Amino acid sequence: MAGFRTLPHSFMTQPSFGKPGSSTRTYLQCISTTCQATFEASEKIYRCPRCQDLLDVKYEWDTAAVSNWKGLFDQRRMSNRPIDVSGVWRFRELLPFYGSEDAIVTLPEGNTTIFSAPRSASYAGVTRLAVKHQGLNPTGSFKDNGMTTGATQANKLGARAVACASTGNTSASMAAYAARAGMRGIVFIPGGQIAFGKLSQSMDYGAVTLQIQGDFDDAMRIVQELAAETDIYLLNSINPFRLEGQKTIAFEMVQQLDWRVPDRVVLPGGNLGNSSAIGKGFRELFDLGLIDRMPKLTVIQAEGASPLAAYWQGDRTAGFRPVEKAFTLATAIKIGQPVSWKKAIRALEWTDGSCISVSEQEIADAKAIIGRDGVGCEPASATTVAGIKKMVATGDIHPDEDIVAILTGNGLKDPDYTINYHLGELYQHAERRMELMTGEGLLDSPFANRPIQVRAEKAAILDVLEQLLKD
Ligand code: F0G
Repeated sequence: MAGFRTLPHSFMTQPSFGKPGSSTRTYLQCISTTCQATFEASEKIYRCPRCQDLLDVKYEWDTAAVSNWKGLFDQRRMSNRPIDVSGVWRFRELLPFYGSEDAIVTLPEGNTTIFSAPRSASYAGVTRLAVKHQGLNPTGSFKDNGMTTGATQANKLGARAVACASTGNTSASMAAYAARAGMRGIVFIPGGQIAFGKLSQSMDYGAVTLQIQGDFDDAMRIVQELAAETDIYLLNSINPFRLEGQKTIAFEMVQQLDWRVPDRVVLPGGNLGNSSAIGKGFRELFDLGLIDRMPKLTVIQAEGASPLAAYWQGDRTAGFRPVEKAFTLATAIKIGQPVSWKKAIRALEWTDGSCISVSEQEIADAKAIIGRDGVGCEPASATTVAGIKKMVATGDIHPDEDIVAILTGNGLKDPDYTINYHLGELYQHAERRMELMTGEGLLDSPFANRPIQVRAEKAAILDVLEQLLKD
């Protein structure tokens, strides 16, 4: 690794660690059970400098008032202060790293609805199903939950430029929070491989948008090298302060359920930051006595990008193997070398969880069904309902379980996918011209809802409606 280099117009100002909001000490700790080295929270590091493993943000909790916290968190839902309105910072006693309220960068995020999804439930074969829609966040994905804490730490460190590699949602979110905090945002995206809605966001929020000739895994490698060698602050989920925000998805979920813990929480897996974060969130609630049991965390991957599912379902003694040239039309999770795989395995172990993969067809159909619940989501999010259906069929989920699926992204992020499905034109490898010509790789669209061409005349329209409403 090259030595530390200061960028031309230094991107860092002096760190400012404000007055701490509580007496809780924050530190970083290596997750390796054989290393466990600890470091100051003010160090700009993303991996353990001793063994290169991932880092956790840890606290010496100030637990004197823990028994009052649920009441305090509930009370804050009546407040109009942005840091109380935020579904992340409302739980700030569980995020004490922030130190001073002045450092907080919030939009404010979270507060995403839990919908009942009866059509998805009956499609999947369960009695009832709840979906927590993280796509209702300010930039339309769960990344905002983590970006508010990542940007806050960047602010505390005096960062002037922040960067990430992304399949589109992280970049959209980071661009927005960088804009709010007055920092330069630099995003690295795989050229031609992210949904248009997401690309448009990072451009609109003013980020430097670098399209890499390569895939997400290439972009991730390059941005880590740059962050190690320059003053640019890395805001991918390898940064443990990002995961601190994402862990609050667990807090908000149980608060919305009147502090009841569901039997199972199902979510998509890509870079595996979210599974890691939500696992940590539930673990902290449990360790602090705020909940009395853990839900089973269930991660669903797309077949062509499923290294965790392969590990979990296979011979685990063979170790975790990345996937070369990952592929899925759910571009958000088109990732073969997930950075947080170790933390995700830990989360599955903590929660007696599991991981499986689903096919492109299963994802596409599940997405159409979620749409029929009047909810809608982006393709990656639909792995959840597809996965539940598959696990009910194999007997791994009992139909009466109390399940919350996390829909990670807004349906408007990737309208091309939705339109192609409903037109019956969703190709698995649309970039390959031969397949387009031969029709090979075309997915079925059993739940298609095609638009109808009709003359602008009342009689013609009534004819069409009569035909349709007859069925
Ligand atoms: N769902 C959506 C909509 C996503 O954008 C992502 C990840 C995931 C699920 C998977 O979450 O990576 O924490 O396992 N998107 C990242 C990005 C990689 O760059 O936007 P994960």
